Amino acid sequence: MKIAVIGGTGLIGSQVVKILNAGGHEAVPHSPSTGVDLLSGQGLAEALAGADVVVNLTNSPTFDDASPAYFQTTMDNLLAAAGSAGVGHAVILSIVGADQVPGLVYYRAKVLQEEILKAGPVPYSIVRSTQFFEFVDAVLSWTADENSVRLPATLVQPIAAADVAQAVAEVSVGAPLRGTRNIAGPDVFPLDELGRITLAARGDRRTVVTDDTAGMFAAASGDALIAPKEGAMIAKTSYREWIAR
Ligand SMILES: NC(=O)c1ccc[n+]([C@@H]2O[C@H](COP(=O)([O-])OP(=O)(O)OC[C@H]3O[C@@H](n4cnc5c(N)ncnc54)[C@H](OP(=O)(O)O)[C@@H]3O)[C@@H](O)[C@H]2O)c1
Repeated sequence: MKIAVIGGTGLIGSQVVKILNAGGHEAVPHSPSTGVDLLSGQGLAEALAGADVVVNLTNSPTFDDASPAYFQTTMDNLLAAAGSAGVGHAVILSIVGADQVPGLVYYRAKVLQEEILKAGPVPYSIVRSTQFFEFVDAVLSWTADENSVRLPATLVQPIAAADVAQAVAEVSVGAPLRGTRNIAGPDVFPLDELGRITLAARGDRRTVVTDDTAGMFAAASGDALIAPKEGAMIAKTSYREWIAR
């Protein structure tokens, strides 16, 4: 299959490209650095010409009030170009529970991205993942100072980016789901506990202070960010083993 991977130079995109090509497909990575800009539409028609599938693994440059406009414009451009090129399957990567956290504008923006895809002209699949292991450092950095990191006890079920890429690649070469596949890691942690595990594994002596108002994930409560009990794919890689490597 010929697969255009927009955002194919990013954390997930670069691994998806490798997996697909190793599986005998013809996956081509696209991004502004290869001359394809989903915001302006530049290079998109050429990138999608002859593609059977388009996988959109781009991300908004910020998680703030600018993010809905980013996903609106990029999805409008993607679907218009994919429709014209006759692409038979469009795939996006969203977030488990995105619709359960209305207080977060970035999550509302991801729901908007999903809705535009569902309403568009191209048969589609949505993969919803939990937070990536590789994202934990950024989460800690938002509310850290030299002595401590403040984190809420929000429940999370993080997953290795490699496992996300595997799932996205599998969905991309299958029939369009016309629905959503949820994927998550094997373990649920309160975020403050995940922070303690992370700092300990790094030999970082700062303390984690539980603060249910701290950072972006304070807006999520209960099981909002946990994979649904029915039908979710649970990946194997454990955070404790991954961080110990
Ligand atoms: N972080 C998490 O825990 C998490 C959880 C669930 C879902 N997700 C979703 O996963 C997706 C991928 O995340 P990621 O961490 O792999 O992203 P990333 O590493 O930041 O990569 C983003 C990719 O998009 C490209 N890009 C950015 N703006 C573009 C534009 N205007 N036109 C074309 N390409 C553009 C980038 O190209 P350059 O390298 O050239 O800038 C890069 O290849 C995101 O949509 C995110 O919402 C993330």
